[in-house]
Amino acid sequence: MVALTDVEVEALGSHGFFVRDGFLGDAQALAARAAALARVDAGTLRPAGIRRGADRSLDAAERGDHIEWVMPGAASELEALWLRFQALGDAVSSGAYLGLGRFDMQLACYPVGTHYARHRDAFPGQSNRRLTAIWYANADWKPEHGGVLRLFPEDTGAPVDVAPVLDRLVVFLSERLEHEVLPVHAARLALTAWFYGRGQ
Ligand code: OGA
Ligand code: MN
Repeated sequence: MVALTDVEVEALGSHGFFVRDGFLGDAQALAARAAALARVDAGTLRPAGIRRGADRSLDAAERGDHIEWVMPGAASELEALWLRFQALGDAVSSGAYLGLGRFDMQLACYPVGTHYARHRDAFPGQSNRRLTAIWYANADWKPEHGGVLRLFPEDTGAPVDVAPVLDRLVVFLSERLEHEVLPVHAARLALTAWFYGRGQ
């Protein structure tokens, strides 16, 4: 079970995001990291697409990560994280009065030299992503590895940098928060859940 703290609820409302460390706990975090690495090593991840007009073309200048969707049934080794994301969605729904329903889960690996340009995950008014939750799997992250997540809160305008360290969770409002991934100097792993509104 996951419950939001008052500070997290307040941060989500005022700044549009919060960060929580130790989302899974050491043992489960290392197991999830190993499972993510195994998927990367299996060679099944594919360059992420950027939608341009009617085409789904690939644009590495915008976004250089390689991705794979993680399905709940087949996610046995990542099941602990999947269940924890599910509990997080319930906690945000009840604690922050966001009516969230289903979510998609994606594994992303950023190879050395890639980044993801500033963007939002959704645009207001469309029936799509409401909440983004990203869990990082980088066990020995150091500043020289790069790949920091930079958030642009609307309220202060001052960018906030989040290091993608193992077992750190960042949660933000998909329609509100602009963000980018700064250039990556060591392969970078993240697992993201995008939550939709109820009935979507
Ligand atoms: C995304 C994204 C940020 C990160 O996949 O849309 O912005 O820190 N990822 O991995
Ligand atoms: Mn994004």
